[in-house]
Amino acid sequence: MFLGSGELGKEVIIALQRLGVETIAVDRYANAPGHQVAHRSHVIDMTDSAALRALVEQERPHLIVPEIEAIATGALVEIERSGLCEVIPTARAAQLTLNREGIRHLAAEALGLPTSPYCFANSLAELQAAIDGGIGYPCVVKPVMSSSGKGQSKLDSPADVASAWEVAASGGRVDQGRVIVEGFVDFDYEITLLTVRALGASGQVETYFCEPIGHLQVKGDYVESWQPQAMSPAARAAAQAIAQKVTDNLGGRGIFGVELFVKGDQVWFSEVSPRPHDTGMVTMCSQYQSEFELHARAILGLPVDTRLREAGASAVIYGGMQASGIAFDGVAEALAVPRSDIRLFGKPEAFSRRRMGVALACAGATDSARDRARLAASRIRPVAA
Ligand SMILES: Nc1ncnc2c1ncn2[C@@H]1O[C@H](COP(=O)(O)OP(=O)(O)OP(=O)(O)O)[C@@H](O)[C@H]1O
Ligand SMILES: [Mg+2]
Repeated sequence: MFLGSGELGKEVIIALQRLGVETIAVDRYANAPGHQVAHRSHVIDMTDSAALRALVEQERPHLIVPEIEAIATGALVEIERSGLCEVIPTARAAQLTLNREGIRHLAAEALGLPTSPYCFANSLAELQAAIDGGIGYPCVVKPVMSSSGKGQSKLDSPADVASAWEVAASGGRVDQGRVIVEGFVDFDYEITLLTVRALGASGQVETYFCEPIGHLQVKGDYVESWQPQAMSPAARAAAQAIAQKVTDNLGGRGIFGVELFVKGDQVWFSEVSPRPHDTGMVTMCSQYQSEFELHARAILGLPVDTRLREAGASAVIYGGMQASGIAFDGVAEALAVPRSDIRLFGKPEAFSRRRMGVALACAGATDSARDRARLAASRIRPVAA
């Protein structure tokens, strides 16, 4: 049972079905991408503990696979504890990553991983005090519960504080009025290190790393990713050590997207998704087994192969407008780009900054793969049907 059935869940569902698994897709709206391919689908408010528990009791799945953060994770902890079914990778991982606070305390304090300096604040006055008390400028303010850059701002001076507070208060998932303020990390590049916990030949869980994925974020949302991202041997070793520590602690089986900032040989932990990562869509063209196939295999206790096949890149196709039932122009032109491919997610409604699809491309080197993916994405135009 998938909790969240967007483009990432849809690909995992397809991968599981190829391995003979029966799938149930759950989302908060009808006809979500995963609903379009699963055996059965449901629409519920996944933040409602009672509704979630009732659906699990009705369907009795063997495995619950969270695809998003905004879930009643307390109910998942109960479900796991009562032995009703297994939660991937663990209910605790879902609970810790629901909120920026849980995972930041774990990473920085319990595990001692390097992170940006940070503070939490419950009001504009507390935010200002945290910045004046040591975080300084530039800094980044984010709601404690949000994703894809929603409610996030970069602050360069005291003049930016009040508007950052307003943006965070209105952009969070739950209007809690609680934010994290982080010192700005002046990184050379950022990566997602896909890390898989899967059964090895020994029958024990082992950790496998994919090649690092570089990505470009605009306003906290990913627009391009590529694999492999070149790294110094020291930075690569530090990145793997951080990913190993955090995923060892979260436990279970499955893929994790460990987000890291890199400057020279120095690496900072940013956050982790205990599930496939949006920037990892590139692996659909660059690896022998995509991040979705790796997740499917890992959760079933099957062997995995994280090897890179060829350099690749992905570029996001945005809605560009507000409309229902959109169609796409320019698909033939996009696919005329050498070694390109596309995934159009089938979301029933577009907004201007909604991710509606992705262009993929392979090449001998990441730079040319990026050029191809960008060109293919630019040729596709969502249009009102
Ligand atoms: N402390 C920081 N210093 C520099 N850049 C930052 C910092 N925090 C965030 N960013 C930039 O903003 C992007 C989004 O931040 P973050 O991953 O915390 O947000 P998010 O809303 O959880 O995004 P997503 O859910 O898409 O991963 C980062 O990938 C990075 O480019
Ligand atoms: Mg992120």
